[in-house]
Amino acid sequence: MRLIFLGPPGAGKGTQSELICKDFGIKQISTGDLLRYHRIEGTELGKKAQFYMDKGELVPDEIIIEMIRNELRKTEYLDGFLLDGFPRTIPQAEALDKLLSDSGLKLDAVLVLIVPMEELVARLTARRVCPKCGKVYHLISNPPKNDNICDIDGIELYQRTDDTEETVRNRLNVYEQQTAPLIGYYENQGLAYKVDGNGKIEDIYKKIKDIILKILKGKEETHSEK
Ligand code: AP5
Ligand code: MG
Repeated sequence: MRLIFLGPPGAGKGTQSELICKDFGIKQISTGDLLRYHRIEGTELGKKAQFYMDKGELVPDEIIIEMIRNELRKTEYLDGFLLDGFPRTIPQAEALDKLLSDSGLKLDAVLVLIVPMEELVARLTARRVCPKCGKVYHLISNPPKNDNICDIDGIELYQRTDDTEETVRNRLNVYEQQTAPLIGYYENQGLAYKVDGNGKIEDIYKKIKDIILKILKGKEETHSEK
């Protein structure tokens, strides 16, 4: 299964991806996580990306497309993947279409999470992340069992440098201008599924799971008709 998660910063892409990957055994590819990994490792790519990420701007398309091209070559994605945070511009979406069609592959669905702006700001400014396993928490709606300590690794959580209110507002503007047009792009391909991303994490996940199960059933039926 090949899925894309589309939605503004803070919509819950990372949170929901974790649940989907656990249930359906597919691998998540988060361009944000890959870029943060490069930053920690101090690679050339990481140094270039830092400049844009800290301002809440998008990293240039050519850097991202090259990074995804290299990532998708890995055998672990042969059975499918869940793209979280990619594509984010029309040129990135066109590059992905080409990468997939060159390998005779197709996308199954694009899940679009819809959440109001003020809720997004509240979610991001109270987000905390484990530096070791990457597990995402929220100080109020999804707190760790012990204050500011990861439930899994027992180490202190950190706040992402781009989760300050000013940078969050810029990221949301960038989303509206450069990424939201992708909803129409995928609607035209008949691949977009809109999900109300407001509410409890488990209730949202239930809606997403239903969509994925329907898609899988459709694939099985198409297969058995052949
Ligand atoms: P990236 O890391 O992808 O960040 P993002 O898209 O801004 O999205 P977030 O990770 O902030 O939000 P999310 O939707 O994953 O929400 P989460 O589940 O964590 O990108 C960072 C930067 O890298 C970009 O700004 C850009 O510079 C660069 N970049 C990355 N990809 C790029 C690309 N393709 N092209 C160019 N540049 C790129 O949830 C958020 C919080 O809310 C958490 O605290 C969570 O616990 C909480 N929460 C989740 N669901 C709920 C709920 N239902 N109710 C209450 N709280 C909830
Ligand atoms: Mg994320």
